[in-house]
This record gives sequence, structure tokens and C-alpha cells, in this order.
Amino acid sequence: MACLCRSQIPYCIVVFMLVALLFVSRTGVVGVVTSDEKASLLSFMMSVYSDPEHALQNWNSSGVHVCEWTGITCNEGRSAVMQLVLTGRSLGGTISPALSGLSSLKVLDLSKNYFEGHIPAELGALLMLQELSLAWNLLEGTIPLGFGKLRSLIYVDMGNNRLSGDIPVEFFCNGSSSLQYVDLSNNSFTGGIPLKDDCEMKDLRYLLLWSNRLTGRIPPALANSTRMEWLDLELNLLNGRLPSHIVSRMPNLQFLYLSYNQFTAEDGNTNLETFFDALSNSSALRELELGANNLSGKIPPVISRLPKSLVQINLAENLLYGSIPPQISNLINLTLLNLSSNLLNGTIPTELCQVGRLERVYLSNNLLSGEIPSALGDLPHLGLLDLSQNRLSGAIPDSFANLSQLRRLLLFGNQLSGKIPPSLGKCVNLEILDLSYNRISGEIPGEVAGLGSLKINLNLSHNDLGGNLPLELSKMDMVLAVDLSSNSLSGAIPSQLGSCIALEYLNLSGNSLEGSLPASIGLLPYLQACDVSHNHMMGRIPRTFLTSSTLQTLNFSFNNFSGNVSAKGAFSNLTVDSFLGNKGLCGSIMGMRTCKRRQYYHLVIMPILLSLVITPIFCLCGYPLAFRSRIRSPARCL
Ligand SMILES: *[C@@H]1O[C@H](CO)[C@@H](O)[C@H](O)[C@H]1NC(C)=O
Ligand SMILES: *[C@@H]1O[C@H](CO)[C@@H](O)[C@H](O)[C@H]1NC(C)=O
Ligand SMILES: *[C@@H]1O[C@H](CO)[C@@H](O)[C@H](O)[C@H]1NC(C)=O
Ligand SMILES: *[C@@H]1O[C@H](CO)[C@@H](O)[C@H](O)[C@H]1NC(C)=O
Ligand SMILES: *[C@@H]1O[C@H](CO)[C@@H](O)[C@H](O)[C@H]1NC(C)=O
Ligand SMILES: *[C@@H]1O[C@H](CO)[C@@H](O)[C@H](O)[C@H]1NC(C)=O
Ligand SMILES: *[C@@H]1O[C@H](CO)[C@@H](O)[C@H](O)[C@H]1NC(C)=O
Ligand SMILES: *[C@@H]1O[C@H](CO)[C@@H](O)[C@H](O)[C@H]1NC(C)=O
Ligand SMILES: *[C@@H]1O[C@H](CO)[C@@H](O)[C@H](O)[C@H]1NC(C)=O
Repeated sequence: MACLCRSQIPYCIVVFMLVALLFVSRTGVVGVVTSDEKASLLSFMMSVYSDPEHALQNWNSSGVHVCEWTGITCNEGRSAVMQLVLTGRSLGGTISPALSGLSSLKVLDLSKNYFEGHIPAELGALLMLQELSLAWNLLEGTIPLGFGKLRSLIYVDMGNNRLSGDIPVEFFCNGSSSLQYVDLSNNSFTGGIPLKDDCEMKDLRYLLLWSNRLTGRIPPALANSTRMEWLDLELNLLNGRLPSHIVSRMPNLQFLYLSYNQFTAEDGNTNLETFFDALSNSSALRELELGANNLSGKIPPVISRLPKSLVQINLAENLLYGSIPPQISNLINLTLLNLSSNLLNGTIPTELCQVGRLERVYLSNNLLSGEIPSALGDLPHLGLLDLSQNRLSGAIPDSFANLSQLRRLLLFGNQLSGKIPPSLGKCVNLEILDLSYNRISGEIPGEVAGLGSLKINLNLSHNDLGGNLPLELSKMDMVLAVDLSSNSLSGAIPSQLGSCIALEYLNLSGNSLEGSLPASIGLLPYLQACDVSHNHMMGRIPRTFLTSSTLQTLNFSFNNFSGNVSAKGAFSNLTVDSFLGNKGLCGSIMGMRTCKRRQYYHLVIMPILLSLVITPIFCLCGYPLAFRSRIRSPARCL
């Protein structure tokens, strides 16, 4: 444009002002929002508390047209308010029934504020309303009955409030329903999901009712919602059989969440086949969550018929038994597999290792036996492997070295034996390594102790590990907890452990560690708990432990520590329970024997006593005799 030339700037400003003037006069003249609507808005404003600097400050200020007020959108002719959108404006107070005066309103969005009280039944008069969002407020009470009149509603979000009571039958279906999106999640709604048999919510694509107290079965009429994409009924009290007949009519389903309910499988809770079959044509299905229900029976081989699109499957916390079918390898896009806390037995099928995209595998808390398949090392994206609390035996495979993405390896509570493979040290992203409660022997490889990546914890407790504590442990400068308790570790505690500066918890109890306790450990700036009980340590407890400002839990019991301990600093709350079985310790700790004032006796009382006894002897025996014998033996002189 010509305006770009510098000399023409004043001209530009004139043109701009003219245009602006035209615009302003236009808003002043054309179209008048009815005074009723303006009155409704003012009445709404009166019941809102807000920061005076905030959202509604231009409401009703002179010269600002209603259609220019914050959050308001009018129609083209500026004769009616079409939208009121005040999301996330820190507004409080109640929602005024006066809003029902905005008879043309299509969008009402008051989400993410602090509105409290009830939803006014009068809103049922907003017959043009298409989108209603009251989510993320503090609203209580019920959904007003009159909402059954809102036949144009497409989108309703009342999630994350404190709403309660039964959902009115008319809410979903009063004749026809145009609803596409319904979110009532994270409230306290009770009763059933009220879909009458003749209810056809044909357009419904999202139904989110998670975290309520809904009871009963999934209504059969939901089968009419054949466009469903996202069905989330998690965390309710729903029961009955898994809804095979319903989901089989939902080819567009992408997310099906039924966890934390009381669903059972078909055929007397033995058959999951029908349900998996029913989902076989939902070729967009990405996530299937059935965890924490009452599902029993075996995981059927037809799990392979679940759509290949599946990315996550969660069957955890059920009563599933039998073995893990090798056919699971057909689900080639799985990234998350959670079968933990069931009654699964048999071995971990090596076929699982063909599911090349797996990132998180939870098989913990089952009855799985046999060895850990070494082919698990072939899963290049594996970041979490939890096989804890099973009956797995054999050694930890060397192949884990290839798991460069591995962050959490939880193998505790099995019957694993053999040595810790040094190759684990190649898992340079490992943050948690828990091999506790197994029968692992040998030394702690320096390579593993040197995993500077460990951020959270290293737990090797309750094994048969021997040898010295590797010096490489000092490289763990990010680790929060180190538990090596109940092993057979020997040698001294290296003072280099003082380099693990993030350490909050250190447990070396129940080993054969000897030597003195390094002062550097007491200097660790975040250390809260330190347990060295049941070892063979000796010497004094360094003062750094007492002067630590973070230490709370300490246990020096059953060693050979000696010296005087006073109930000061970090020790002021300790009792003798932290110092049991150290014959050489004495001091002012509650319950501890006080130190015999031996030195005091020696220095003051003994000379006085002696002089009391000896002086008369001197006098009796005579000075020269005493001088000759140099008081070596008063008895001799008698
Ligand atoms: C159901 O819709 C009809 C017609 O729109 C209406 O008259 C009636 O009040 C509605 N029922 C409820 C409970 O809202
Ligand atoms: C809607 O669902 C009900 C209950 O399953 C059924 O009786 C009815 O035939 C369905 N309507 C359509 C159009 O499928
Ligand atoms: C899936 O689709 C196939 C082919 O269209 C059909 O034969 C089969 O009955 C469908 N399965 C289900 C559970 O709807
Ligand atoms: C790691 O992977 C490479 C190539 O994929 C393979 O040759 C090697 O044997 C694997 N290492 C282990 C320890 O399994
Ligand atoms: C291992 O130690 C860590 C850190 O103290 C702890 O969080 C974890 O629960 C322990 N594991 C077991 C199986 O007790
Ligand atoms: C240290 O480990 C032992 C044995 O595992 C356990 O009994 C003790 O409670 C632990 N100490 C602390 C402070 O957690
Ligand atoms: C404890 O330490 C003393 C030396 O300080 C030593 O003589 C004694 O044998 C030790 N006792 C035990 C049980 O290790
Ligand atoms: C001792 O206990 C009291 C009360 O539980 C607490 O306030 C105080 O911080 C504790 N002192 C130390 C050194 O842990
Ligand atoms: C310290 O460890 C000993 C031996 O395990 C135990 O008896 C005692 O209760 C522990 N003390 C504290 C304070 O936990």
C-alpha cells in the first residue's frame, strides 16, 4: 500500500481515523440489542464477583456497545446476543437465572471459573442453545429437569463440578436428540445412565461420564449411537456384562474406557471372546481400558482379532487366569500393555517381543514363572518393564543392554538368581532399578553402580549380593534412594558415597560392612534417612550426622560404634532404638546409658581419694621410703 512511504504517514493516520470513526458510528447506529437482553446481562453481572480490574470491567461502561462487552458476540445485525463466552476469567458468584432472557443465545461458556450454587432451571428456556459449557466450576445440585427442552444442544460440558443426583431421563433424550458431545465427568451423579429403549442419540460421538457414582447396566439403547468415538465410563459403579452388543455397532470407536467398574465377562464370567470379537470391526480403536473390574476367565487367543490400530490395552486388576496368549503379538501397534494384578500363570510368551512398538509393559503381581525372555531386549522403545511380584526364575538377561530407552526396570519379588549383568550399565536412561527380594548373587557390577542416570531409586535389597560396595556408586549424583539392605556386602563404606548429593534415603542395614562410618555421608545436603544397622561398623559416629539439618530417621543399631552421643541437633528426637546393640555407646539419648564419668574420676576424685588415703600412709611410713619406692605400690609400704 502507498501508506508504506514515510512521508505519507500523517495521511495514513487520517485515513485510519476516518475508518475508525465510520466503524464507531456504525456500531452506535445500526442494530440495537433489546433492552431486555441488556437487562439480563446486567442482572447476570450483579451476581458475579470478579476482580474489578478483570473480565467484566467494560460491561455497562458508557460508550461501549453491548456487543463490545467482554465475552459477548452478537449476530450480524447486532440486534441479539449469540454467544456469551467467559471461560477462565476468574469469575465467582452464582449463575443468574436472568441469562434466560438471552433468547437467541447459541453458545454459553462459563467454564473454568469459580461459579457456585445451582444451575438455574431457567436456562432451559434458551431454546436456541447449541453449546453449553459450565465445566471446571464449583457448581452443585442437580441437572435441572427443564434441560429436556434444549433440543438444539450439540455440545454439553458440565464436567469437574460438584453436581449430584440422578441425571434426568429427558436430558439425553426428549424425543430426538442432537447431542454430539456430552461430558458430565468428575461429579457425583448417581442412578443409572438414563437412556430409554426408544432413545436414539444418533449423533453422539463423545460420552464422558467417568468418575461419578453411576450404577446399573449400560443401557442397550446406546447401541443406536453408531457414530460413537469416545466412550468413557471409567470409575463408576456400573455392572452387568461387558457391552458386546453395543460396541459391535460402533465402528468409529477410538477410545473405550470401562475401568474401575464391576463389569463381568459373558457366559458366567468366563468368556472375553465375544467382547473382543465385537470390537473387531472398530478399526480406529486406539485405547481399550477394562482394568479393575470383576472380569474372570482366560485371555482368549482371539485377542488377536482386536483391531491392529490398538495402541493401549489395560486388563489389570481383574481375575484373569491362564497364560498370556502368544497371539497377542498380532497387536503390532501396541505401546502399552497392562496385565498386572491378575492370576495369570505360565511363562511370558517370547512372541510378545515381536510387538516392536511396546513402550510400557506391566505384568506385575501375577503367577508368571519361567525365565525372563531374553528377546525382550529386542524392544527398542521399551521404557518401562514391570515384572515384579511373580515367580520368575533364572538370571536377568544380558540382552537388556540393548534397551537404550529403558527408564524403569522393576523385577522385585521374584526368584531371580545369577548375577546382575554388567551390561545393564548400558541402559543409560535408567531412572529406577528395583531388583529387591530375589536371590541375586555376586558383586554389584561397577558398570551398574556407575549408572549416573539413576534419578529415583536403586533397590537391590533382600538378595545375596556380596563383595565390596563399588566406588562407582559415587557417580549416582541424581539418585534419591539407595537401598542395599539385607545382603552380604562387606568391606568399608566408601567415603565417596558423599558425592551422591541428591540422596535422601540410604539403607545399608543387614550386611557385613565394617570400618568406620564416613563423615561425608552426614554432610549429604538432602539426606533424611540413613540406616546402617546390623553391620560390623566401629569407631565414633561422626559429628556431621548430628549437625545435619535434614536427617530425621537414623539407625546405628547392632554395630560396634563407641563414644559419647548427645541428644542434640539431628539426634534430639532419637531414642535408644536407633543405637541398640552398640556396647561402646553412651550419652544423653533417651534410654541410653549415661557415660561413666571415668575421666572425671581420674582427674579429680581419684587424686583426692588417693591423697586422703596416702597422706596418712606417708606420715606413717615416712617420706624417704615413699620417695625411694616412687609411690609405685602403697601396699608394699604397708
Ligand atoms: C420435552 O420436550 C417437549 C417439547 O420440546 C417439552 O414441551 C417438554 O417440556 C420437554 N420435557 C422436559 C422434561 O423438559
Ligand atoms: C435403538 O435401540 C433400541 C434398544 O437397543 C432398539 O430397540 C431400537 O431398535 C434402536 N433403534 C434403532 C434405529 O436402531
Ligand atoms: C465385521 O465385519 C464383517 C464384514 O463386514 C462382518 O461379517 C462381521 O459380522 C462384523 N463383525 C461384527 C462383530 O460386527
Ligand atoms: C543388541 O542388538 C544387536 C543388534 O540388534 C544384536 O546384534 C546384539 O546381539 C544385541 N545385544 C544383546 C546383548 O542382545
Ligand atoms: C525399594 O526401595 C525404594 C526406595 O526406598 C522404595 O521406594 C521401594 O518401594 C523399594 N521396593 C520394594 C519392593 O520394597
Ligand atoms: C532398612 O532396611 C531394613 C531391611 O530391609 C528395614 O527393616 C528397615 O526398616 C530399613 N530402614 C529404614 C530407615 O527404612
Ligand atoms: C569392637 O571394637 C573393638 C575395638 O574398638 C574390638 O576390640 C572388638 O573386637 C569389636 N567387637 C566386635 C564384636 O566387633
Ligand atoms: C523433633 O520433633 C519435633 C516434633 O515432631 C519437630 O518439630 C522437630 O523438627 C524435630 N527435630 C528434629 C531435629 O528432627
Ligand atoms: C533400628 O534397627 C533395629 C534392628 O533392625 C531395630 O530393632 C530398631 O527398632 C530400629 N530403630 C528404629 C528407630 O527404627
